[in-house]
Amino acid sequence: MKKLLLIVSLCVFVSSVAAQQIDLIQNVDGRKTISLDGQWQTIIDPYESGFYDYRYQPNANGYFKNAKPRDKSDLIEYDFDKSATLKVPGDWNTQSDQLFFYEGTVWYKKSFDYELRSGRRLFVHFGAANYVADVYLNGEKLGQHEGGFTPFNFEITRLVRERGNFLVVKVDNKRRRDAVPTLMTDWWNYGGLTRPVSLVETSNTFIHDYSIQLQKGTRDRISGWVRLNGAQLRQRVMIRVPEARISRSFTTDANGFAAIDFNADLDLWSPENPKLYDVRVEAETDQVRDQIGFRSIETRGTEILLNGRPIFLRGICMHEEAPLRGGRAYSREDAVTLLGWAKELGANFVRLAHYPHNEVMIREADRMGMLLWSEIPVYWTIQWENPATLENARKQLSEMIVRDKNRAAVVIWSVANETPLSDARLSFLKNLVAHARSLDSTRLISAAMERHYVNSTTQMIDDPLGEILDVLGCNEYVGWYDGLPRKADRLEWKSKYDKPLIMSEFGADALYGHHGDALTRWTEEYQEDLYRHQISMLRKIPFLRGTSPWILMDFRSPRRPLPGIQDYWNRKGLISNRGEKKKAFYVMQQWYRELRERK
Ligand code: GCU
Repeated sequence: MKKLLLIVSLCVFVSSVAAQQIDLIQNVDGRKTISLDGQWQTIIDPYESGFYDYRYQPNANGYFKNAKPRDKSDLIEYDFDKSATLKVPGDWNTQSDQLFFYEGTVWYKKSFDYELRSGRRLFVHFGAANYVADVYLNGEKLGQHEGGFTPFNFEITRLVRERGNFLVVKVDNKRRRDAVPTLMTDWWNYGGLTRPVSLVETSNTFIHDYSIQLQKGTRDRISGWVRLNGAQLRQRVMIRVPEARISRSFTTDANGFAAIDFNADLDLWSPENPKLYDVRVEAETDQVRDQIGFRSIETRGTEILLNGRPIFLRGICMHEEAPLRGGRAYSREDAVTLLGWAKELGANFVRLAHYPHNEVMIREADRMGMLLWSEIPVYWTIQWENPATLENARKQLSEMIVRDKNRAAVVIWSVANETPLSDARLSFLKNLVAHARSLDSTRLISAAMERHYVNSTTQMIDDPLGEILDVLGCNEYVGWYDGLPRKADRLEWKSKYDKPLIMSEFGADALYGHHGDALTRWTEEYQEDLYRHQISMLRKIPFLRGTSPWILMDFRSPRRPLPGIQDYWNRKGLISNRGEKKKAFYVMQQWYRELRERK
């Protein structure tokens, strides 16, 4: 009897959590939202005593209850409202010296009032939380999200009250062997509510998600779909693009789904002409607006074709490190600064490493005309045999694609970076590539693959992963981890595949202002010289169709302690974290100018 009761209560619990956890709501910005950003009360909880009791069992009266002593004898050992605050959005590491190296749990609490009119629904939306977030409203569990770089949301219609709501989030950024990423990375494990948190109000039946892009292989046909969520699923839906005189009507089926497909005469999006259209999706009970660009991207042999014409991706890699102040970048200002520097370099392409960056960055790239490579953190030695790890990676891939599928700037989805060859790895990555193609057939799939020497002067690209990718990506550090810069002069590159190659990383560390001769490591002259030798090698690769040197700006890494030089910064930036351009910046800028003029 006791066992049966337990199973029933568990089912009720799971179903209630499942009911609140729903798929990502598309384009939150185009809806009625209330920001919850600002100062949140926080409790630093390294022993997770707000979650577990002393027997390490989940505690039903954990900090998510936000309890207050009822009288002078009542024993409550925490108080959010007397605790320190942290700013959201923001990582906790750069907000307090105590938390600089901290990896563990921090509890966040935000109180708010909300008058929800009847017939309306309410959701809480998180841009991201690194790494595992357990979310509660008014003491009730909404659900959990794992993955530090993708958005998630929960429905709170049933739980919200007019006055005195308290939203509590347990954020834990502890690294785990089975996680994605796994234990070892070369970037700072910034923890916290790193991107905006907002309340999103909708009508009872609302436009949950939509995909509106050019049909693969065409430049004059739009195809996609619209999906409603709610009780009234059969509705007439209009797609309007006023500027292109488009006004098409469709009807959703019993599941609230309508496929859309129609001819369109459009001004195509490109770096030179980042044309965005005001697109309106109007259902009977809801409507959203979005700014969408239309472009086609495909390969033909070793060519990459943008809008049917060959293009060379003049790129640069970028971490989501905030320029000038350090910490996780999240604001429009951060995006404008970083993408502005990339433009100054002469880039038309940015590899966003090694995880999905914030949506503000992606939309800014749409506006500025910057092509993007977006990647999930399947980085180095992931636990390939672990089904839970695969499920986690698939989920992060889904969330990345669902969020950015309407962004013209994103042309490449990358499923991995520098992952060692093995059968388990290959089947893991094959699974991800197939999953990405099932979610989005319009974009190219790539990864930073392995390569090897076949002799002292020949590099070969024959990683079996290349078989299933559209674009080959390769990282190489000839002249830094592999010999001295001049070694590149006599290197030849070969590939087993008739596919385009993007040299997705190359570079060297240099401390801005540190000078010496070209053979002295850590100097600007060494880095400058390395770039010269790299460029002379890259020019000779017949199937090279893009480059993204490592990296635009110095970024924090716990793997880089060298005092007086690195001080926990990876110094491979062409620009320092204070925005100072190193000599190598101008070498790369010069080459990109030549490539642009040659076109
Ligand atoms: C690797 C890796 C990067 C890293 C870089 C480096 O190739 O992909 O994440 O930061 O090399 O060593 O600087």
